[in-house]
Formats: sequence, C-alpha cells, structure tokens
Amino acid sequence: MNSLIAVAYLTGLSYAATMDCVGTISSLSDVAEAVKCTTVNINSFTVPGGQALTLNLLQGTTVNMQGDVTFGVANWDGPLFTVSGNDVTCAFSQAGTVFSEAKFINNLLVPVNGNGHKFDGNGPSYWDGLGGNGGVVKPAPMMKIKISGLYEGVTVVNSPARTYSVSNPGPLTMTGLTIDNSLGDQPNSQSDGKPAGHNTDGFDCSTEDLVISNSNIHNQDDCLAINKGSNITFTGNTCTGGHGISVGSISTGATVDNIQITNNKIINNDQALRIKTKSDATGASVTGVTYSGNTATGCREFGVIIDQSYPSTLGTPGNGVKISGINFTGATSNIAVASSADRVAVNCGSGSCTGSWDWSSLKVSGGKVGPITGFNGITGFSQ
Ligand SMILES: *[C@@H]1O[C@H](CO)[C@@H](O)[C@H](O)[C@H]1NC(C)=O
Ligand SMILES: *[C@@H]1O[C@H](CO)[C@@H](O)[C@H](O)[C@H]1NC(C)=O
Repeated sequence: MNSLIAVAYLTGLSYAATMDCVGTISSLSDVAEAVKCTTVNINSFTVPGGQALTLNLLQGTTVNMQGDVTFGVANWDGPLFTVSGNDVTCAFSQAGTVFSEAKFINNLLVPVNGNGHKFDGNGPSYWDGLGGNGGVVKPAPMMKIKISGLYEGVTVVNSPARTYSVSNPGPLTMTGLTIDNSLGDQPNSQSDGKPAGHNTDGFDCSTEDLVISNSNIHNQDDCLAINKGSNITFTGNTCTGGHGISVGSISTGATVDNIQITNNKIINNDQALRIKTKSDATGASVTGVTYSGNTATGCREFGVIIDQSYPSTLGTPGNGVKISGINFTGATSNIAVASSADRVAVNCGSGSCTGSWDWSSLKVSGGKVGPITGFNGITGFSQ
C-alpha cells in the first residue's frame, strides 16, 4: 500500500514537472503551487517580517518579476529571498529592459511606464552603523542564489546587511543587476554619527563557474568578496562607496584559483583591489588572479593592497596561505588614490608569496608610496 501511494505520488510529481503552466506569485501562499510550473511570474507584494520568499524551481524554469517585492521587518537571521534550481533563467523585468529571449515577451506584461522592479529589504529599519558586528539582529544575506543559468536585471535596494550570497550548482551568469544601498551612507539616529549601513557586502561568493557582469553596486563594504572558489569572472561592474573588490578574507583550507577581475570602475572606495588572508589561516592558497582594464578614483586608503595579516591591516602577517600568480596584464588598470592614501601595499608572510607577478599594466597615481614587505617577485611595476 505504501509503495502504491509512493508510485502515485512520484507519477504526479513527474507529470507536474513536465507541465507547461504559468505559476503566479502574489503572496507567500501562492509559492508552493507556482513552483510546479516552469514559468513563474512574481507580482508586487509584501513578504511578512520574519518570513522568506523561497523558490525551489524545476529544471528549466523561467522567473519573471512583474512588480516590486518588499520584505517586512523582523530581527531574524534570514535569508529573505532564496532561489534554487538547475538551468533556471531569472529574468526580472525593469523599466527599459529589453528581454533577451523572445519567448518571454509573449506572456509577459512588460511595464509600460516606469518604475523598475525591485526587492526592497527595508534596510533603514535595521541600520545602526554596526552591521553584523552588533546592534539589532539583521537578516543576512538578504538574497541567496543557488541556481545555474542566468540571473538578470534584478534591483535590490536597502539590504539590512550582506546582500548576495552566491553558491551556484553549475555555470551561472549574473548580469545587469543593481544593488542600491546608497541611503546607508548617511548616519541615522542609531548610528552614532557613522554611516548607518554597515557590512552591506555586494556579492559574497564561495563557488565556481560564475560570471558577474555589467552591474551597479553602491554599498558600505566589499563590492565583491571571493572567500573560496575557482573560475570566477567579475567584469564591467561599477562599485561605489564601499571597500572595493576583494579576494578573501581567506580562512584555513580555502583555495581560490582562476579569477578574472576586468574592466570594472571603482569609485570612492577604501581601496580598489584587495587580497586579504587571515593571519592564523593554514593549508590555504590563492593562485591565478588576473586584473585588467580596471579604473578607480578616490581610493581613500589604498590603491591595491595584498595583506596576509587579516583582521589587522598591515599587521603581523601569517604564512599559511600561499599566494601566487597575481598579475596585472592586458588593458591598463588606472588607479587614482587620495592624497593621504598608499598607492600599493603588499604584506606577505615568510615564504608564502611566491613566483613572479607581472604588474606591467598597473598604473597608480596620487597618494604616497606604500610598504612592500615579505616579497620581491613583482615585475614591471614600481610606485
Ligand atoms: C567557467 O565559468 C563559465 C561561466 O560560468 C563556464 O561557462 C565555463 O564552462 C567555466 N570554465 C571552466 C574551465 O570550468
Ligand atoms: C602571471 O605572470 C607570471 C609572470 O609573467 C606568469 O609566469 C604566470 O603564469 C602568470 N599567471 C597567470 C595566472 O596568468
């Protein structure tokens, strides 16, 4: 009897899986039915505080956003939005977006006038200048992306703390995205004169086979942080206001290799480009990070910093993370730093930075000469 029920149940599932239906989500109670379809449309609605919008999608699903989704406020861990599935296309309509795949256009209400569609995390209701380091509990990350395929045209505003965590099960391109936490630059009544937004990382990635491109990120922490992984490309993005583009912080056992950071614009960040490894980490490595065609202006502290003393800055470095193959090649990377900033700082542990690093296409202007200690393998560059 039990096995008969199981068979009927499985048959039902596979029938649903092959149905070419359109699911519509206008409240959380619609989700369970909607995700049985391979087209899922999301209308404008509010997710109650303390609850999440979680989409476990069938293979080949296309998601269309047709309105704004706002998350109510509650002091819990989140995430607020999770999407998982293989070969999923998430095409989120925005004003002015031309859908790249014609099949969407027939069954999609393209907004005629106006407002782009977005996920609103209600950040100002949480921000206290402390981020994940204290104060009220803030949902983080706000957005958890566990799909392969394409994720495109999504706007996120006001994330309570970290914005995206990406752990794709297969190749994924995330493109044409906006993260706008610019309101967090201002102090509020809780933040003691400091910017109210804190730890609002753009993308935290521990993954492989990922491209993030042509996106705008305005925040108060790392624009990109690669904690481990391989074959990650970050290209054509604009990072404003935060802590620049980071590999790290690297912990015990983490490996990072084959990373391309190209043609990004970095505006008014603490530093443009950084590799940070924990001083107490062991058995870890960073191999093969290539930078080309990046431009930065208004770097407040450093142009480029490679530092093995995290969480200190230019403190006593550890040597348990091997770093090799860090190159500036191809198109010139032009980095301009503030007058009080260091142009380049490198702080390697004993014997842990190795090989020859070709920095012939790096140009850094303004500021002052920074310390380069523990490594003398940089070629083609002097500050
Ligand atoms: C690298 O990532 C891209 C994009 O995700 C993927 O298409 C490609 O197959 C990957 N290459 C390797 C060598 O894994
Ligand atoms: C970095 O440059 C060095 C020196 O030219 C070269 O030996 C190495 O293969 C390069 N690494 C990568 C990942 O391109």
